[in-house]
This record gives sequence, structure tokens and C-alpha cells, in this order.
Amino acid sequence: MTDHPGKEYEDRLGQAVEAAFAALDLDAKARLLAGQDMWSLPALPEAGVGSLVMSDGPVGVRGVRWTAADPSVALPSPTALAASWDPELARRAGVLLAQEARRKGVHVLLAPTVNLHRSPLGGRHFETYSEDPYLTGAIGTGYVRGVQSGGVGTTVKHFAGNDAETERFTVDNRIDARTLREVYLAPFETITAEARPWGVMTAYNSVNGTTMTEHHELVTGVLRGEWGFDGVNVSDWLAARSTGPALTAGLDLAMPGPQTVFGPALAAAVRAGEVDEKYVDAAVRRVLRLAGRVGILDGVGPAVEPGQLPAEVDGAAVAREVARRGFVLLRNAPAADGTPVLPLGPEPGTVALIGAAAREARALGGGSATVFPTHLTSPLEGLRAALGEEAVTFRVGADPQAELGPATQGFDLHAVCRDAEGAVLGTAPVPGGLVRWVGSDLPEGVTHDTLHTIEIAGTYTPPESGRHTFGTRGLGAFRLTVGGRELWSGTQGPGPARDPFEAFFGDPTERATADLAAGTPVDISLTYVPARRTDVPLEGVSFSLVHLLPQRDADELIAEAVEAARQAETAVVVVATTEAVESEGFDRTSLALPGRQDDLVRAVAAANPRTVVVVNAGSPVEMAWRGEAAAVLLTWFPGQEGGSALADVLLGDEEPGGRLPTTWPARLADAPVTVTTPTDGRLDYTEGVFVGHAAWERAGTTPAYPFGHGLGYTDWAYETLRAEGRTVTVGLRNTGTRPGRETVQLYLAPPPAAPGEPERPAQRLAGFALAEAGPGESTEVTVELPDRAFQTWDEAAGGWSHRPGRYEVRAARSAADPRLTLALQED
Ligand code: BGC
Repeated sequence: MTDHPGKEYEDRLGQAVEAAFAALDLDAKARLLAGQDMWSLPALPEAGVGSLVMSDGPVGVRGVRWTAADPSVALPSPTALAASWDPELARRAGVLLAQEARRKGVHVLLAPTVNLHRSPLGGRHFETYSEDPYLTGAIGTGYVRGVQSGGVGTTVKHFAGNDAETERFTVDNRIDARTLREVYLAPFETITAEARPWGVMTAYNSVNGTTMTEHHELVTGVLRGEWGFDGVNVSDWLAARSTGPALTAGLDLAMPGPQTVFGPALAAAVRAGEVDEKYVDAAVRRVLRLAGRVGILDGVGPAVEPGQLPAEVDGAAVAREVARRGFVLLRNAPAADGTPVLPLGPEPGTVALIGAAAREARALGGGSATVFPTHLTSPLEGLRAALGEEAVTFRVGADPQAELGPATQGFDLHAVCRDAEGAVLGTAPVPGGLVRWVGSDLPEGVTHDTLHTIEIAGTYTPPESGRHTFGTRGLGAFRLTVGGRELWSGTQGPGPARDPFEAFFGDPTERATADLAAGTPVDISLTYVPARRTDVPLEGVSFSLVHLLPQRDADELIAEAVEAARQAETAVVVVATTEAVESEGFDRTSLALPGRQDDLVRAVAAANPRTVVVVNAGSPVEMAWRGEAAAVLLTWFPGQEGGSALADVLLGDEEPGGRLPTTWPARLADAPVTVTTPTDGRLDYTEGVFVGHAAWERAGTTPAYPFGHGLGYTDWAYETLRAEGRTVTVGLRNTGTRPGRETVQLYLAPPPAAPGEPERPAQRLAGFALAEAGPGESTEVTVELPDRAFQTWDEAAGGWSHRPGRYEVRAARSAADPRLTLALQED
């Protein structure tokens, strides 16, 4: 399969672009550069251009509707994909996503997210790959190749420096030139060179004083000029704030619409002589080229013809494979009989499965990356399917979700839309009690102009007796009744941050409680009059009814779990973060597991020496108890098939394949960067190029688990290491008793800096490869060290500088576990 259509296609594409271009007047051209709604561009039939549709991204393709009524395959979190250290797996994930996009009529996927794990507090840490630019670039390259091989575009995002969420719309990240080039721009550069993405998304934040949608130097200078990016530059949603400066800096598309800084405002600016039309023309040609590539431009076929599309793949199977290939076995201590506790084997006897997230799967992180799968396999379902109902005893133990969540189990709800006079305009299903209608995605018969009140109405049949808590999410006026009785009415206004997406991602708020009896249905009604926000340039309605089951005494829950653990042969405790911890629009404030989960783990591990802790989190959490549990398995947010993949790995049908793509701190205080809150609007990246494992190494602090760490179910001996030029070959042998896969990592340690030369990290990841072998078998992997590994960015010269000298190549199992070393003279 070739990655890119050849010159012949590009020529035909160029002709089709010119033909369409000639049919457009200034108004039409300006319209093409602005969203017509939340997700799409207008069609321009006079020029033979169809409407281009975009959608998030990155773990699935949500489509143009934000509802469980329009489901998608949900893959594991990007951290999990990166933990596979397998660009080929990322490519296959991309092939599946392209298939999903085609099914949903989506032309461009708003992914991958390739910002870096600068701090574990970053709210979207789970949605990005790694702390390491090289690993991020490699995984992102595989992903983009996969999606685009399916004829669907990508937007590599968020260019650049969107590594945290606090004040994300306005923060000015101060990053020196060398650090930008060597660290934060590096994944974008690699992906542009290796995968030729059809799009890029510019971030909300500023870098060194200029907001990214107006950053001429980085967009037109570096991305397009130096790297030759020939795709479309779309703003992050609502990131474009000016007409002339954004366009002339190199922004092509202002999203979403219909009110944007481009469109009619752009045509007017050209007519007023404020913007030279040549910039409009260049942007239009780029958008037309994208339209051609995705097959919605007359006169040219898509870049990937239907006959060249990859074969259909089974989404559930890919999701399950990515999940287990991303699971990282952090610890696997010998049990009483001297063998490691994992794998449990096909007949492990009785298992006490403990933790709320074992029953209510936490498969995805929150925010714009959310998709709605048709089903979610929880650990409880996965283990019961594998071992039988009787073998698995479930106890909640501790509930991190002592927070309001979607109104799902026991709720039967629909929405009724009324006009200002109270006449019914239309109705719609509202799975989970969530109403999120943006742009033209409204129930039949309803328009934003006529819609006044929405009522979520229906019944709730409680699964448990006791005090139930109800709440709301969204901005506007509410009235909540349960069983015909008004429990609360009031208005929710915007918070101080005034994030335009607050109604989407803001916290749910508790409003009232009601004592209800199990099995007895009660009527529920939540009426809502939306707050009209004039500062948000798109029309939408977003609110929800949220609910929390009666809460049991926390000590009692732990005691019940301990009892179950004591009686079972093995205890499996699933601990998790929640959407209030890991999502978009805010950063984390702590790495502690929410609720009483730490106490739960300690108590269970004390009761059963064969305790396996499953960590269901998209980014690092503190695990002070890690030495007390026999095994610790990190499953990230494992996607829709997480429970089945967990059974595969616990029982030993498959190895856990992951290696940490980010250093796992023992305590937040040890992390290299612990502040993501700007001071006076500025965030200084003072650590420079010392990011991730390089920073840990320099500080001399020992993390809980180093970058690259992860165990399989077999052992490996690293036997040989040789280099011919920059081609490095590692020979290794599987010394265990079962077949396995090893992630061979190559770190390159530079010679000490000569006087006047910039200091470099003590080592950098310069390559990796996956080796597979059966028990007792030897194998070899070969890795080509890239030019960049021997270069630094020379700020004064404005270019890369080659750094000759005597380097050390380290073949390693993690950043902290080198097995063989070799001197390499670079001239
Ligand atoms: C996010 C983007 C996303 C866009 C559309 C923004 O808030 O930062 O990553 O693609 O919304 O949902």
C-alpha cells in the first residue's frame, strides 16, 4: 500500500481545484473558509464542492451528533495506544477509525492529539500519547497513515504548546526556540514529514506572545515553509479571534460556525482593503484540495479510490487488541509458591472482584474526545464471561463515583420541546438524560428560533431503596420535579472562567434528594430554559439530568470487600479516576485516587496476599500502596472492550503488551512540573528541553516506575548489540516458558557538552522495536538511529546543528534499565 497518491493524482487534483476556484466569487470563497455549523463547511454547488464534515477524534468518530443514539466504536485512550509502542498497531487503529468515519459521513477526523505530557496534572493527558517527542511522533505517524489510507483526513492537534488546560483560551506559553524545536514541535515535524497529514489544528493558547491561530512564524514559517505542510489549517473550536491577522498568519478555516471571523466578515475585510485577497485565494485552494482528497470535489476522484480502501475490519476486535496491547504490568511479585501471581491461568478458582469501576466500566476520558459505544464490557462482565458467574464475587468496596453521573440505569426519559406559548414542537430520546443539540442537530419540527423550553420527562425505577440525589449540568433556568413534587427550581449562570464550553464540560451540580423505594417507578421532570449566550457564536442547547444512587457507609463497604477477598483465592481490585478528575477544560489538582480507594486497596491486600490491583486511569495516579499488592496492572481507559481484554490478560490468554509512555511519579511533588496555572496569563516552560524522563534523570529522583517500564509474562536476555554506522542491531533471547513480545528501547547518551555548547539530556530515546520469540528462541531487531538524535537546535544560527563525538547506545528495557551498551563514534 502506498501512503500517498502519486504525482499523476496531484496533477488531476490541481486541475480540479483550479476549475472549482474559477467558479467562486469573493463571497463564496469567504464562505468556504468558515463553518456553517458545529462540524461542517457549506457546500458550494456552483463550483462542484460538497459539504466537508469534521468530527472528533481521537478514540472514535462521534459524528455530527452528540448522543448515545448515534453510537461509535470506542478505542482505548491515546495513552494506551502509545503504551503499545507499536506504530503499526496505531496504523490499524487508524484504518478502523477511517472506516467509522466513512460510515458516519465524516471526511476529516479531528485527531490525533500530539501535545506532550509536560505535567501529570494536564487535564487532557489521557488524550495525548506520551512525555517523549520521539515516541509521540512515531505513534502519531502510524495513526495518521492509517486514517488517511482509508480516505479520511486528519488534523494533527493542537499546534502547538497546548500541554495543559488551565486558562487554555488565553494562556501565553513562553517556550524558548530550542525547546520548541527539540520537544514540542518535534512530533508535528515528524508526522508532517512521515505521514503527510491533510490537516492540522491550531491551538487556543499563545506561544511567546502570539495566539496560535495568528502565529505567522510557526504556521507559515515553520509548518508550511520549512516542513512543506500542504494541508489545511483549521482553528480549534472558537480559537480564531481575528480576521486579517489569522488569515495572513496562515489559518484556513475558522470553526465552528455560523458566526465566525471568516465568512462574510472576511469578504467585508477584503472589500475594505484590510486583507489582501491573495491570502483568501491561497486558503481556498488548500480547502479545495482537501475536498478533492476526501472525494467531495467534482472533476477528481478521492485520493483513495473505493477499490483501494483497506479491507473491512472488526471494530470490537481492534478495540480489544489495542486494549491488551496497551495494558502495562507494573508489578508482578511472586506469590507464596514462588511464581508471580499473574497470569492467573485458565482455572484460577474463585475471584473476589472489587471496586465500583469493575461494574461500571470507565472506558473513556471526558470532553470532546467522548464517543458513545453501543456497548461497554466491564471487568465484571469480562471476568464472568471467562470464568462463569459463580467463580466471581463482586463487591463495590469503594465508590470513586460518589459524584453525580448520567441518568442511565432505571431511567426511561425523553425530551419534549416547547415554544414560548407552551405548544409542543417536537420530542426526542435522551439517552443518559443528556441533551446536547448543536447547530442543525435538533429534533424534527424544532428550530433554535422557536425553541423556548425543553423538558426531560419520564420515569425512574430505582434499583435500590434510599436517599437518591438529583442534579443538573448546564447554564440556564431549571425546574426539577420527582414524583410530582417540585424539588428545586433556580438558575445556573456562567462561572468566572467563562470557558465557552462550560455548558458542555462544566461540573454537574447537586440540586435535591428524594427518598425512593426500590422497584417503585416515580415520574421525573426537568424543565429547562437555556441561557442565551451572545459571546458564543454558535447555537446549541446542552444540559443534563444527573443522578447519584444512595450512598452506603464507606467503612462498611470496605469491610464487605475485605470479607470477600479473604474468602476468594484471588482478589482483583479495580481503582479508577472519574470524569471530574480527567477531562477537558481544566487541569487536575492532585494525583490522588478519589474517595476511599487507597484505603480499600490496603485493606484488601492485607486480607489476601494474591491481590491484583487494576488501575483504570488515563494518566498517573499516586499508588503509595504499590508495594503491598502482589500485582499492579495499568489498563488506562481501556475502551469498549476493556473488560474482555482484562480477562484475556489476567487469565494469561494474552500478555499485557504495554510499556509506560510516561514516567509514573510516586508523588505529585516529585514530578518535574507541578504547576500548570499561569501567572498573570503566562506559563513559563522554564525547564527547557528537560522534559519527561530527561527531567527525572537530571533531578536524580526515582519515580514509582520509569518511562518505558512494563513487564510481560516471559523473561528476556539481551545478548548482543552491534552497530554498522547508525544501524543498530540487538540480539535477545526469550528465556521464559511462553512466547512473548519485548519492546526493545534504544537510548542514546551524548558526549559531555564542550564549553559553550548547550547542555543535553543525559540520554534520549532514539529508537525502539518490537521483538517476538517463542520460549528459548533468539531473535534480532534492527533500528536506524535518526539524524535528529545527533542534533541540537542552534538558536543563534536558526538551524539544526550536528553534534559529533563519542555517543553511547544503550539497549534497554526502560529508561532506567539498560541491558547492553555500545560506543558509537559520530563524525
Ligand atoms: C477541543 C478540540 C476538539 C474541538 C471540537 C475543542 O474544545 O480542544 O480538541 O477537536 O473542541 O470538539
